[in-house]
Amino acid sequence: RKSITLESVMTEFHLSKNTLRRMMDDMNKAMDKGLEGGLAKSNIAMLPSFVPHLPDGTERGKYVAMDLGGTNLRVMLMEIVPDETPTATQFNTRIPNWAMHGTAVQLFDFIAKCMAEFLEEKGVAQDGLKVGFTFSYPCEQTSLRSAKLLRWTKGFDASGVEGEDVVRLLEEAIQRHGGIKVEVVALINDTVGTMVAAAHEAKGVCHLGVIIATGTNASYMEHSKKISYGLASASEPYPYDKMIIDTEWGGFGDKGEGEYLKTQYDRIIDARSEHPGVMAFDKLVAGKCMGELVRLVLEKLTNAGILFDGEGSDRLFEPDTFPTKYISEILSDESGSYVNTRQIMGELGIDHHTFQDMLLLREVCTVVSRRSANLGAAAIASVLNRIREPKMIVGVDGSTYKYHPFYHFWVTEKLRDLVDPGLEFQLILTGDGSGKGAALVAAIADKIAKGVP
Ligand code: BG6
Ligand code: GLC
Repeated sequence: RKSITLESVMTEFHLSKNTLRRMMDDMNKAMDKGLEGGLAKSNIAMLPSFVPHLPDGTERGKYVAMDLGGTNLRVMLMEIVPDETPTATQFNTRIPNWAMHGTAVQLFDFIAKCMAEFLEEKGVAQDGLKVGFTFSYPCEQTSLRSAKLLRWTKGFDASGVEGEDVVRLLEEAIQRHGGIKVEVVALINDTVGTMVAAAHEAKGVCHLGVIIATGTNASYMEHSKKISYGLASASEPYPYDKMIIDTEWGGFGDKGEGEYLKTQYDRIIDARSEHPGVMAFDKLVAGKCMGELVRLVLEKLTNAGILFDGEGSDRLFEPDTFPTKYISEILSDESGSYVNTRQIMGELGIDHHTFQDMLLLREVCTVVSRRSANLGAAAIASVLNRIREPKMIVGVDGSTYKYHPFYHFWVTEKLRDLVDPGLEFQLILTGDGSGKGAALVAAIADKIAKGVP
């Protein structure tokens, strides 16, 4: 048995520039194959969104935005006024476990109930408002408002939803609840929402919408002629030149194709996950698994006697006790203070530690999250190198990205290394793509329905 050292752990998480370039190459090919045949042909599904263009600033009106993310459900009332940042009032709640893991009826009744209560409280439940629904899971869309869930990702596995039209499930739940009058006009992925919201902020321009949160994913604008496979099942003719594509890059590396990126810890994570064998890239990069990756490394180092005098605590040895936010908190400690680090060790029940332990803990957090940032940057670079416009705007959102003190810096630095020479990019941190984006897409759907080109 090879003896474990801190260096051996660090080396496993190190990805050379060559490895990242190999990954970008593989990702680019997988995106081409996805456009040719979706998930049947590729790990990157490249799903049509049926959103034909970005907002141009003339959108207006009052809309309801619903957002089912990886962790939270939000209901928002959005007021869009031309050339202004949309304003919102919102209701936010953590999605309870029984709704994530129960039946379709339980999940959608929960969503409809939250929606109805909020709209009633705001006195708009009878106004027939149009709803944009951000549903951050891979869906096969045949129009803006029909979307079959291909598979659950992240922590969800509610039964009876996969293969079903999610808009229909929501409408049926609204009917069952009764007493409110709304019309669901669009369903979008959160990355589509991010791209649309970023464009609204950046005078109609955004090339790529990226989320690094519980999961990770990106959307970009593609030429319709390149998505003939995706458009083949469209419910009506699609007259536009372009469409936003939801890449679902979280599936990259599945079916054994991403083994060269993985460590022994990633394999443990995958084996223990809700959906083993799929969404490899999500598990390598995003927040759902990042904290647990750190915990697994700490467990290994403790067992090897390198950390916490070989002792640790019961809690440290229990899966899922190290949430990803701990990483941001530890790395946010003011230089030399170790206030958050000490508090987190307290929460983990680690009573005895040395100064060296604190340094090591910090180092593990750095190494694991830096790998995520490098992989995220390589994925962004591979799409930017496809888009190939001289000046590209990337809208980014997600708790994993935003709350980490160095993530943005690391991604920017790595992108400079990996984006082809001559191409310029700008990363814009976008707030609340799911809310603003859903409302803006509902407004775009409204314009389309009224025949505005
Ligand atoms: C938020 C974004 O930061 O993250 C949303 O504003 C996105 O657009 C959400 O849907 C995803 O977060 P999570 O962790 O709930 O999946
Ligand atoms: C997961 C989902 C994807 C979503 C992403 C970010 O990867 O499959 O649809 O966009 O998480 O929330």
